[in-house]
Amino acid sequence: MTTDVDLAQEAFDNYRSYINPPLARVMKLSGAPVEVSAAGSTITDHTGKTYLDFAGGYGVFTLGHRHPRVVAAVRDQLERMALSGRTMFNPLMGRLAKRLAELTPGDLTFSFFANSGTEAVEGALKLARAATQRAAIVSTDGAFHGKTFGALSVSGREAFRAPFAPLLADVRRVAFGDAAALRRAVDADVAGVIVEPVQGEGGVNVPPEGYLRDVRAICDEAGAVMIADEVQTGLGRCGTRFACDREQVVPDIMTLAKGLSGGVMPIGAYVARPSVWNAAYAKAPLLHTSTFGGSELACAAALAALDVLVDDDLAGRARERGSQLLEGARAVMHRHPAVLADVRGAGLLVGAELQHEGYGGSIIPELLKRGVTAAWTLNAQRVIRLEPPLIVTAGEVDTALQAFEGAVAAAFEQLGALA
Ligand SMILES: Cc1ncc(COP(=O)(O)O)c(C=O)c1O
Repeated sequence: MTTDVDLAQEAFDNYRSYINPPLARVMKLSGAPVEVSAAGSTITDHTGKTYLDFAGGYGVFTLGHRHPRVVAAVRDQLERMALSGRTMFNPLMGRLAKRLAELTPGDLTFSFFANSGTEAVEGALKLARAATQRAAIVSTDGAFHGKTFGALSVSGREAFRAPFAPLLADVRRVAFGDAAALRRAVDADVAGVIVEPVQGEGGVNVPPEGYLRDVRAICDEAGAVMIADEVQTGLGRCGTRFACDREQVVPDIMTLAKGLSGGVMPIGAYVARPSVWNAAYAKAPLLHTSTFGGSELACAAALAALDVLVDDDLAGRARERGSQLLEGARAVMHRHPAVLADVRGAGLLVGAELQHEGYGGSIIPELLKRGVTAAWTLNAQRVIRLEPPLIVTAGEVDTALQAFEGAVAAAFEQLGALA
């Protein structure tokens, strides 16, 4: 009989021997358990202990784990056809593209489907170049757009880029939220500006009011394509259907992934305005393709997820529970100013900035001990993100906040004041 201990040892050994030895060690040191099952806002580990999932798969689980409407849609589709044969019309892909055109702002119309966020970004960057016949891309410091070559080239963390140089040539980086700097960087050579409406992995950075409108205007003046990377912020996460809606801005291309999966099937997409899409692909329909992208299973999941997003007003729920989480985490900060420097966020994307990154190595395991998952942000090691499913209840937010306070206090007890 396999015991809990065997399962944990097997997982660790396999990670160490066949996946990534240093990652295996870091995960073990931080007390990471073995995930076995999940439902709603919780994950259950190999010992039967349940955790409130406030890491939320880095934003994947907007509907929680295994939402019944998504599972039913995927099961039903599995009985008919799983992956596209690609030679015939795929009706679900058509329906999903139509639904996205209805739900996204303005005249965003044409969708391309892939399997991840980084592929969505690759597609968007290629589209911007092909549509404008220009080469340069402007992106922002701290940005995270994925780890394939194009997406990595426009991402903001040097440590992730350096080992792979040279990346895409002619990428210009400017401070996030600084419209004047952006204006100086955008000229007639610029194909596109790529920006997250709220930076996620950069440390949960909310730009000043008006920034997105300025980005829009700067792109319009220069004839550059505005790409809004909503892989993490879209589909209700930030308290509006899309984070661009916070400023009623219509980008030329919007990228989506994470929550579009309904938490069940991987999918990524970009949605483009006809003016841009036609300029690139009107006469060349096979320039950008994907074998797996837009499979029947993934589209069935996404269609069900979009229905839940609208029917259950997940954006409204993100606003309500988001202000509860933000206010609660701010109260913890006021009681523990030696550990927490700032708490900020939009909707249910909340970041807690630590006075010293050393505290994080304590807070995350302490949270796990108390039955709550949380995650670092990839580009800002001093910021821990709290990003629960949008279906989280008020009681679950309270429970997580109590655990957060306990973990912060424990970190200070263990480490004292870190300079
Ligand atoms: C804004 C943004 N864009 C792109 C990506 C890359 O997505 P994926 O990991 O699915 O490739 C991420 C992932 O965190 C993201 O936050």
